[in-house]
Amino acid sequence: MSESVSQSGGSKKLWGAMFDKPTHEEVETFASSLAQDSRLWEVDIECSLAHARMLGQTGVIPEAEAAQIISGLGRVRERISSGELKFSPTAEDVHSEIERFLKEDVGPVAGKLHTGRSRNDQVATDIRLYLSRQLSALTIEIERLQKWLVTAAEKFTHAPMPGLTHMQHAQPVSLAHHLLAYFWMFERDRSRFNEVIERTLVLPLGSAALAGTPHRLDRRAVANELGFRGISENSLDAVADRDFAIEALAAGSILAMHLSRMAEEIVLWQTPEFGFIRLDDSVTTGSSIMPQKKNPDVAELIRGRTGRSYGALNGLLVMMKGLPLAYNRDMQEDKEHLFTGIDNALACTRLMRICIEGAEFRTERMAAALNGDFSNATDLADCLVEKSVPFREAHSIVGQIVNFCLTHGRTLESLTTLELKNFNAAFDDTTPARLKHFAAMEARQTPGGTASSAVERQLNQARTLLEA
Ligand code: ARG
Repeated sequence: MSESVSQSGGSKKLWGAMFDKPTHEEVETFASSLAQDSRLWEVDIECSLAHARMLGQTGVIPEAEAAQIISGLGRVRERISSGELKFSPTAEDVHSEIERFLKEDVGPVAGKLHTGRSRNDQVATDIRLYLSRQLSALTIEIERLQKWLVTAAEKFTHAPMPGLTHMQHAQPVSLAHHLLAYFWMFERDRSRFNEVIERTLVLPLGSAALAGTPHRLDRRAVANELGFRGISENSLDAVADRDFAIEALAAGSILAMHLSRMAEEIVLWQTPEFGFIRLDDSVTTGSSIMPQKKNPDVAELIRGRTGRSYGALNGLLVMMKGLPLAYNRDMQEDKEHLFTGIDNALACTRLMRICIEGAEFRTERMAAALNGDFSNATDLADCLVEKSVPFREAHSIVGQIVNFCLTHGRTLESLTTLELKNFNAAFDDTTPARLKHFAAMEARQTPGGTASSAVERQLNQARTLLEA
């Protein structure tokens, strides 16, 4: 036996019987998925328990043997949990390790657990169950962030700030309206994840390796016990596809994109130039050389970690591309991508809330940024429109007024009725009041608009969705 050949003989493998040589040591390490799939151990046992119970109930194996397996699995669960049983780092995967533990506990009857089952449908079932729980946890994290957004927005329905397009001052909006924009993005994220959960909770178990099984399994009983919504209709599809995981990562990428936009605004708002926000000390970091620094690292990391989410999605899409039916070992790589993407989504969503919930919003700076910024120009044009001046003409008149202001160092809101009338006779005594930024904000009462009355309606909608 050469040095590079593992001492663990082929006979120790679940499939070792017909192999003359032990597996090459490096092949063993290369092929092991334990580093990725060990976190599936609990769902793996749960699925095995459901499978064993069903095997006993249907009489596929004697009830007494099923009972032995079930109590053995319970003990294995406890002993892994307590740290007494440890996975061997060279093991092929978590499924074979748990079967090994079971065999050590109950003896040869452990071999009956795999009746009518293959690791192909087993792993697909484990991943689906695990993922559905991770996604539920994620929707709860998203909801917590949304709750914070609603609570914050409630305080700022009357706080105007510059609304930007092209990063230029465009029209005033309320801080509440701006914060709630993120609420709706996260609301769609949450509903996307809920839809993915529905499609994820379809049970593959009973598909066996690829073609189904001659044993008369009760797949629906297993589905009910494990909380699956239904059973797969095609055994090849059930073991060979990972589209549910791709969907989860796609939804995760969209969430990461939303979080990164919010993070970018936090970074921007924390600059002295903006000064719209003051992050809490507990979520900022200093510099080892520049004593004055308070850096928004959490927001930067959330922005940066978008790369992990997109990378995971891309990795899984590429891995699955062109694979012939049914199971191929390539698919073992699914876990690396899936766990990276979902862990990242969970961490970034939590950290966004932690980062923002202690922040101070400097509404006085936001209001000050509006002074003389011409973001009330549309309102001036709208005054003319109300007097039947065509909008295009009004636009051009106000363009001239803005030019006049720029040349003479004036602001739109400082113009008197008389000065305005020089440009167009349709302006009247009511015009100057309309040019106050607060008034401009409050004028936008259309449903979905930024006026406080419209934002109150929006808040009601948001609260209803959170209560549902
Ligand atoms: N560790 C494998 C995976 O994650 C389990 C399935 C192995 N099936 C097989 N036929 N080799 O995909």
